Amino acid sequence: MARHVLLALFSALLLATAITTSEAFSRTVKAPYQAHKPKKLTHLHFYFHDIVSGAKPTTAIVAVGPATNTSASAFGMVVVIDDPLTVGPEITSEEVGRAQGMYASADQKSFGLFVAFNLMFTKGEFAGSTASLYGRNPVMSKVREMPIIAGTGAFRFGRGYAQARTFTFNTTSGNAVVEYNVYIWH
Ligand SMILES: *[C@@H]1O[C@H](CO)[C@@H](O)[C@H](O)[C@H]1NC(C)=O
Ligand SMILES: *[C@@H]1O[C@H](CO)[C@@H](O)[C@H](O)[C@H]1NC(C)=O
Repeated sequence: MARHVLLALFSALLLATAITTSEAFSRTVKAPYQAHKPKKLTHLHFYFHDIVSGAKPTTAIVAVGPATNTSASAFGMVVVIDDPLTVGPEITSEEVGRAQGMYASADQKSFGLFVAFNLMFTKGEFAGSTASLYGRNPVMSKVREMPIIAGTGAFRFGRGYAQARTFTFNTTSGNAVVEYNVYIWH
């Protein structure tokens, strides 16, 4: 019995110490919302058009680093994009949204992009909703997987992933068409 009392006292002391320590730096507060439980998984399929040259480019190189020009992977280049998303691979196919944001060449050895953009949907059930894509895109790989970290509208509390596959790449113009399969729990 005495041992139990001692143990209880000891735990209470530990607890008190823990609370004092944690309160100094952080504390847990009552969550303002109930925990959100995803209800459905949505699969989106579309083509992303990265138009870097021609009469109407949808990308702009906004910065380069001191070594970008001599780097085989264009390290340090930052590009802002407003790329169309279409149902089919042709640019004339129905536009369902835009990919707005940026990518940066962030790998010194191979061609690897840091990407951060919003998929802004403009057609159908998801018109007005967005999904935020953030991750690493090793563009030379056959399939590149990137996280969907959040969303708005229909995709509020959204989480998921995107898989990108180059559909066509024109080595003369630098323009690319990329097939996207996106899965979002929301
Ligand atoms: C890189 O090349 C471009 C175009 O050839 C040139 O305008 C720019 O000044 C160069 N930048 C650096 C940092 O050398
Ligand atoms: C590739 O781009 C060049 C330059 O814009 C263009 O003349 C050519 O038709 C394009 N090739 C294909 C297969 O689209």
